Amino acid sequence: MTDLAKKRIVLGVSGGIAAYKAAELARLMMKRGIEVQVVMTESATRFVSPLTFQALTGRPVFSDLWDNRLDNGMAHIDFTRDASAVVVAPASADFLAKLAHGNADDLLSTLCLARACPLMVAPAMNRQMWEHPATRRNVSQLKRDGVGIFGPGSGEQACGEEGMGRMLEPEELLFDIEGFFQPKRLSGRKVLVTAGPTFEVIDAVRGITNLSSGKMGYAVARAALEAGAEVTLISGPSCLKPPASAKLIKVTSAQEMLGAVQEAVSEMDIFIGVAAVADYYVLNPSEHKIKKDAHILTLELAPNPDILANVVNLPKPPFCVGFAAESESLFEFAEMKRHRKNLPLLAGNLVQDAINNDISELTLFDDEGAHPLPRGPKIQLARQLIAHMAKLYDLSTNPKNP
Ligand code: C5P
Repeated sequence: MTDLAKKRIVLGVSGGIAAYKAAELARLMMKRGIEVQVVMTESATRFVSPLTFQALTGRPVFSDLWDNRLDNGMAHIDFTRDASAVVVAPASADFLAKLAHGNADDLLSTLCLARACPLMVAPAMNRQMWEHPATRRNVSQLKRDGVGIFGPGSGEQACGEEGMGRMLEPEELLFDIEGFFQPKRLSGRKVLVTAGPTFEVIDAVRGITNLSSGKMGYAVARAALEAGAEVTLISGPSCLKPPASAKLIKVTSAQEMLGAVQEAVSEMDIFIGVAAVADYYVLNPSEHKIKKDAHILTLELAPNPDILANVVNLPKPPFCVGFAAESESLFEFAEMKRHRKNLPLLAGNLVQDAINNDISELTLFDDEGAHPLPRGPKIQLARQLIAHMAKLYDLSTNPKNP
């Protein structure tokens, strides 16, 4: 896993009202131990004073190509040679156009062209500007050039209009920046992830479900994307925002989840079953709301299909990873489950610790034994799971190359 601490990032700020959010991003970066050098365009300085960034980062801010504060007069070279990345947030429509065309008429655009490190941008602009064919062309070109594009998000804009174009919030951006640095261990691989609970209908307004939030499954999908995989996420009901570049398929019941998995699985390299699939469904759900009366109501439940077992038993199964949520004897039950389900890797946790929490513990079980991961945020656990899985996957596809 790649840590952000000790990285050196050039934070470029171009002219837009979202420049004020860049101040918070600079603060968060500093808090994570990143060394931040801010470079602003001239128009950015009209929105936020360079002094704000200087105070937050403890470093002088540069915006002039002809600044003589550096002895050699070459800020555009100096700032990028030992930088881990350049992050431009906000990136205005004009700045994206400059980048896409390789213009270099101020310090920020010149150092972007002169850099020898990755470039990431967080676009922010009015929705019409974002949707304009010129911006669409520029963004496509930047993607082809390997530039990381984070956002924009949609919502209310400073101009009073609603739509796509809001810069992502600083916390989200930091999350994306961290993701960008993760090793691309699954590059070119297709990964299918199931997540969340399922909902089994009782009647028109009721159903059987469980407390799974989908947080772990969504984190696993995100970590697989960060590792360079093409990800399909099949999710039961969840309020979470899915990772933007995953293909999301929403389902309700276990049967629907099975159908969606069966449709997608043939082209997958890896299947990770994180979903908390309901063990039973209601045999004869009522179309109408069941009326209450004084009698005991009996529901007839039938077992749901085991989706993971279905995939494992395919003639040509993908590499399969299971999850086990136990309320006791985690090591014993998880290892038993891994053998019973014939899985090369299973991740296990205690339900009381994992359900709906952002921070949790996870232990990985494989042929070598149990590997407890340090307690941490689910995205960090998911990144470690993906790293471990990628090693086992490589071994399974190429046993001579450990
Ligand atoms: O047997 P148990 O439900 O504990 O197994 C958990 C693992 O099996 C998880 O990976 C879960 O996603 C998967 N599973 C499934 N279909 C079911 C039940 C569990 O895919 N019906």
